[in-house]
Amino acid sequence: MIELRQSTPLWETEGEQKREAVQSLFARIASDYDRANRLLSFNRDRSWRNLAVQKLNLQPGDRALDLCCGTGDFLLPLRQAVGTSGNLTGLDFCEPMLRQASAKDESSHLVLGDATNLPFQAEEFHAITIGWGIRNVPNIDQAHQEAFRVLKRGGRFVSLDCAEPRNSIIRVTTRFGRSALTKLLGSAFHARQEYSYLDESSKRFRSREELADSMRAAGFTSVQFQDLMLGNICIHWGTKP
Ligand SMILES: C[S@@+](CC[C@H](N)C(=O)[O-])C[C@H]1O[C@@H](n2cnc3c(N)ncnc32)[C@H](O)[C@@H]1O
Repeated sequence: MIELRQSTPLWETEGEQKREAVQSLFARIASDYDRANRLLSFNRDRSWRNLAVQKLNLQPGDRALDLCCGTGDFLLPLRQAVGTSGNLTGLDFCEPMLRQASAKDESSHLVLGDATNLPFQAEEFHAITIGWGIRNVPNIDQAHQEAFRVLKRGGRFVSLDCAEPRNSIIRVTTRFGRSALTKLLGSAFHARQEYSYLDESSKRFRSREELADSMRAAGFTSVQFQDLMLGNICIHWGTKP
């Protein structure tokens, strides 16, 4: 087994260093990512994705973009919403994650690119999703601005990610549980630093209100959010007026 040693823990990196650290982290765990996701979400991630897609009001034939698409698990509910006449694009900057996505879904267009510098024209998409992605992006405000730019007027953006429960008892209990679970997965998949990152980055992530403010600052209106799993998960959504 090759051990990864870094002077700065992954979760304390910022800017370009964070970008590179996150990219290589997901390259290392790509083959185990789906299994880990099912375990960490207690197999609830699919229903959360379905709920997030419902917020988009997509119609058959629409064009949707999934940012930080990873292994492509958002593409399935998006395909159900836009139908076979719809057009789906998944974007991620980690090639091994995209390879997993392409093995799963042949009908979507997969693009290797950065969520903070999108290779698309303005107003190309009817809707945009991002699942457990915004937390990993070094410049969250810029990612929101880019999503706003490529969205059509009237289109919706939805972001699904981890959150810290508001209730202090639930917060302490779930921090303990999440830390134990990520340590267990880190040992099982021989990737301790990588799975610790999932835990540590959740603790350091922006609050619900800060994320909503960043979306509003990017131009989104009717910004709302909804807690799931006792506040451990939060969906944010907003509209481009
Ligand atoms: C936790 S995974 C989420 C994957 C998928 N969205 C899901 O719902 O399971 C985070 C993904 O974000 C990607 N990512 C992180 N920062 C990115 C960026 N700046 N641009 C594009 N992709 C990024 C990573 O490569 C990784 O595939």
